[in-house]
Amino acid sequence: MKLRTIENLDVRGKTILLRDDFNVQIVEGEITDAFRIGQSMPTINWLKERGAKVAICAHLGRPKGTKDMKYSLKPVAEYMKIPLIPDCLDKDFIKDMKDGDVVLLENVRFYAGEEENNIEFAKKLAYGYDIFINDAFAVSHRAHASTVGVAEILPSYAGKLLASEITELTKVMENPKRPLLSIVAGSKVSTKIGVLKALSKLSDTLIIGGALGTTFNYALGDKVGNSLYEADQKDTALEILEYAKANNCKVLLPLDKGVAKEFTKEAVRTNKAFTELEDDDVIIDAGIETTARNIAEVKKAATVIWNGTLGMAEWMPTWSYGSFELAKAIAEQTKAGKLESIIGGGDTVAALEACGVKNDITYVSTGGGAFLEFIEGKKLPGIVVLEDK
Ligand code: 3PG
Repeated sequence: MKLRTIENLDVRGKTILLRDDFNVQIVEGEITDAFRIGQSMPTINWLKERGAKVAICAHLGRPKGTKDMKYSLKPVAEYMKIPLIPDCLDKDFIKDMKDGDVVLLENVRFYAGEEENNIEFAKKLAYGYDIFINDAFAVSHRAHASTVGVAEILPSYAGKLLASEITELTKVMENPKRPLLSIVAGSKVSTKIGVLKALSKLSDTLIIGGALGTTFNYALGDKVGNSLYEADQKDTALEILEYAKANNCKVLLPLDKGVAKEFTKEAVRTNKAFTELEDDDVIIDAGIETTARNIAEVKKAATVIWNGTLGMAEWMPTWSYGSFELAKAIAEQTKAGKLESIIGGGDTVAALEACGVKNDITYVSTGGGAFLEFIEGKKLPGIVVLEDK
């Protein structure tokens, strides 16, 4: 795939509509994870240094086409110390911009036309700009006005982050160092069928964990107590296991679990094998034996792809054990030069950050859903429109 990139673009004095993904976690007005903003800075700085006038277009949450100020990008503008334009369709500010100025447009999802990829809305959004640059890999799986619509109206290019995500993820998918271990966890089989199949085709070993793993255990007849799992995905789980077998991929499921009598952060933790689970036990994390097995698998691998925490990693320290121990083992092997590690997904990246190993990973993707769809081999609409044909 060859993209139109910005390297040779003359941007001085040009008005640029830059799409970034600033869909970051904000708690009580404070940004708790600025990873996506940090990763967007190389393109922003590149444009600034070259004298472009940059209006960043972004979304936050899912306000469903209404101006719900709970989803305002104000905290992001404050964090970045740039002005916030209160309406993404406003154009008045452009005439006052000087070369090198950067502003942030208010949440583009305040308009229903955004998610509908409405052509009239896209035209209004594009109006007044010379060039469109998409650097929002994490939302490029959505065919929205600010990812696809405007790209079909203005001369459009891929930013540095978008281009590097594609390069790094393509490299691991096309030519991974073997053995390749993939680890997929999270809550729902239904949202991960595609990626589970794609990874069982690509990988030598596939670890399935989290509530996802519980569904597989349930499908095989294990007791799961009062835990989160999807009974209606039993056949799908069995089908994925067959598919992996046909593709010579070894699948490893949870062996034991960290459980409690209630699903709360403060609950008392015990470790149980599936045979010991009682009807009122709730699985909240990977168990001790499972974690040791996962770490042993990491030590045998030359490449690891990981998406999804193995339990409630944000409920530290009691329930972060399985995810943090795994993250630390991956980081250690990577630092020692024995492993290439590729990790994506909001919760997983937050876990890396929380246990202080994010910088030791070979490549951390900003994508959640986009990361999964890309790995699955899907064509992402926001990227297709930037292809040099
Ligand atoms: C993400 O956070 O994964 C992207 O910003 C996409 O958000 P969405 O799932 O609300 O479209």
